[in-house]
Amino acid sequence: MSGPTLVGPILVHEADGVLELRFNRPEKKNAILGAMYDTLTAALRDAAARPAIRAVLIGAEGDAFTAGNDIKDFLAMGGGLQDAPPAGFINAIASFGKPLVAAVQGAAVGVGTTLLLHCDLVYASPAATFSVPFVDLGLVPEAGSSLLLPQRVGQARAAALLLLGEAMDASGALAAGLVTAVVPAEELHAHALAKARKLAGKPAAALAATRALMRGDMAALHARMRQEEVAFSLALASADAREAFAAFLERRPPRFG
Ligand code: COA
Repeated sequence: MSGPTLVGPILVHEADGVLELRFNRPEKKNAILGAMYDTLTAALRDAAARPAIRAVLIGAEGDAFTAGNDIKDFLAMGGGLQDAPPAGFINAIASFGKPLVAAVQGAAVGVGTTLLLHCDLVYASPAATFSVPFVDLGLVPEAGSSLLLPQRVGQARAAALLLLGEAMDASGALAAGLVTAVVPAEELHAHALAKARKLAGKPAAALAATRALMRGDMAALHARMRQEEVAFSLALASADAREAFAAFLERRPPRFG
């Protein structure tokens, strides 16, 4: 058993059949850079291929889970999400065939929340918040969240999240079915890790088959993800998105045309 390895701002640690991936860019609220997505994508592909990995735990250092995509990176991306690192990660997590557990200890913004829709078990500390403010950034939902979020929490709550950009707190997320359990902050990591280890000790084939049955026909999800990629790419290049990104970086309110 070796200690965690730092691969860019992602901590990677493997023990007892569980691969742990932890966002480690706390000074930027774990905002995700292209290289971080690429590390996560490669780690998931590797975990899928290696029988020794039987579950994956996603967590984070610092007081935020992740503030979502790095907004400077968004500005640098001309459009075309299809071949970009975020899409690689989203596709990898959506089609991952082994159990995924998440431990959310703070703000989960944008992809920080949408990635959780692909996890089997989500544990949150009382301070966790969940938000998908794509519209406020001139963007549209991704990671299949335009389909999965209404299915999971209902149209009415999904509209408050996706249209108004309102955040959900941990107890709201528990009530809505977005998280499995709320756990005291000091116990969160150990609790989530114990659950991941528990899954790692179960018969892998039965787990994989049960997950696949629970997910059902994935065709609609994949089709929606392709539609989202097209809409997101268009939105990313829009004047509204550029203004929203600039406003965030300049710490001022946006002025939409
Ligand atoms: N991209 C790039 N930098 C980000 C970032 C992001 N998504 N989120 C936070 N940061 C940076 C801030 O610019 C700041 O950098 P600085 O110290 O060099 O000025 C640092 O992280 C701390 O962020 P700050 O906003 O001061 O922390 P906070 O505790 O007041 O708020 C958040 C935390 C997560 C609520 C807030 O940072 C936020 O709303 N971030 C943007 C979330 C977002 O819209 N993501 C995209 C979703 S698609």
